[in-house]
Amino acid sequence: MQTSWIPFIPESASTISGRVDALYFYLSGVTLFFTLLISGVLIFFVIKYRRRSPFEIPRPIAGSHKLETLWSVIPLIIAMSMFVWGAQIYFENSRTPKNANEIYVVGKQWMWKIQHSTGQREINELHVPAGRKIKLIMTSEDTIHDLFLPAFRIKADVLPGRYTTQWFEATKPGTYHLFCAEYCGMNHSGMIGSIIVMQPTDFDNWLSGNASQQSPAVAGQQLYQSLGCVSCHGATGEGGRGPALAGLFGRKVFLTNNQTLTADEGYIRESIENPSAKVVTGFNPIMPTFQGQVSPEQLIQIISFIKSLQITGGQAASTPPAATSTAPAAAATPNAVATPQHNPK
Ligand code: CUA
Repeated sequence: MQTSWIPFIPESASTISGRVDALYFYLSGVTLFFTLLISGVLIFFVIKYRRRSPFEIPRPIAGSHKLETLWSVIPLIIAMSMFVWGAQIYFENSRTPKNANEIYVVGKQWMWKIQHSTGQREINELHVPAGRKIKLIMTSEDTIHDLFLPAFRIKADVLPGRYTTQWFEATKPGTYHLFCAEYCGMNHSGMIGSIIVMQPTDFDNWLSGNASQQSPAVAGQQLYQSLGCVSCHGATGEGGRGPALAGLFGRKVFLTNNQTLTADEGYIRESIENPSAKVVTGFNPIMPTFQGQVSPEQLIQIISFIKSLQITGGQAASTPPAATSTAPAAAATPNAVATPQHNPK
């Protein structure tokens, strides 16, 4: 494992790590400067203004506006520079670029389960290409974990029942640490692994060398059939008694309680586990819960299947589906309810 030229500083291997380090050096520099300044002045004053005779009384001080303004404005400028600089890095780090490759990460006591969008699975190892943007979509099977990649200067909680993301672009091939940074039980300290950064061509070979595995989207499609989602959401997700799933991911959803939200991983998961929580306008809360029937990994598969569904034939899928698309789906359902619940506005 390579280390930096400064002791205790991990290797810097992502596009953001240099900027994070620069901010840290600035913070350390400011701290060091004021520590030395204050202790130096302190020692100097202790000697210079020491009591020289037992009856000495100091001159009264009436205050100075100039001095008070100075020691308010200078710290303000310094504090704001830290804030603005930190916020810039924070925003860049929390806004995932659109074209990032997605990799799913599931934390579990006490291992990291990783699945690539092509289907490759890894445990406690994460292979990534250098020079490409990678988005990690993370969830937990049990308790709170935290995925920490020190060489990339990124770290985020991995929570049960929620999806968190982080992104990075590795800059140089090599093997780097991967840690769990949230105490999660007995073997927390053993919940470690490696992130292996490869040249893009090596990575593509690695990825295709293992192509027999099923991609999460294909596995999700099979779950979509076997769990019976198909009977209400349509054979290709075009909708029916339930809302259309084609083109759902990332678009606006209108709910019966007049709320509007953007369909993301968390919304889809909630709609599978607790369907009545957020009912789409124009539909009745008839969907049963699938809580406990789908594992976190299967949820990821269903979500990647839904992500893979594209809108066909320019069907506007932002509101309840057009009446034409509902008839075949409803007819194909053995126990179809007499009238589909639609009131397109
Ligand atoms: Cu997982 Cu600590």
